[in-house]
Amino acid sequence: MLITVRPSAARGSACVALAFLALLSGCADEGEPVRVDGGDAAAGKRLVAHYQCGACHAIPGIPGATGDAGPALDTMGRLSYIAGGIPNNPAQMIAFLRDPPALKPGTSMPALGLTEQEARHMAAYLYTLR
Ligand code: HEC
Repeated sequence: MLITVRPSAARGSACVALAFLALLSGCADEGEPVRVDGGDAAAGKRLVAHYQCGACHAIPGIPGATGDAGPALDTMGRLSYIAGGIPNNPAQMIAFLRDPPALKPGTSMPALGLTEQEARHMAAYLYTLR
């Protein structure tokens, strides 16, 4: 009798095995991104492109986002602090994105006139970067 293994089934079980190994090795922060109530990461990604945050930031996944005036945002979802000293949680992230100098006097990131909802979507997107 001939036993065949469908390639797709083999790939599926390899993924399960990898996920299990990740659990064993204690990659706790590899779980779900921080949840932002009312924030839509896909909308946030479009807004980040629209507002050209990439003029100052390197952001993986946003075409042309290679700026270096500000820090790269590729690990924003797992940093403990925003801009070096502001606790990284959704409320603070939204406030920072709307008015950086209000949270960090003297910072060179300008307020870009974001609405609360726009900043909320962007925060949801930024937390997927890690
Ligand atoms: C004119 C340049 C400029 C633009 C445009 C800009 N930023 Fe920034 N951004 C900065 C600088 C500079 C910092 C570092 C601030 C500090 O530490 O004082 C920063 C910091 C940040 C941080 C914190 C990064 C970290 O590692 O802690 C986030 C998040 C961020 N910006 C998101 C955005 C988003 C989203 C946009 C678009 C809406 C944007 N920025 C537009 C210059 C800019």
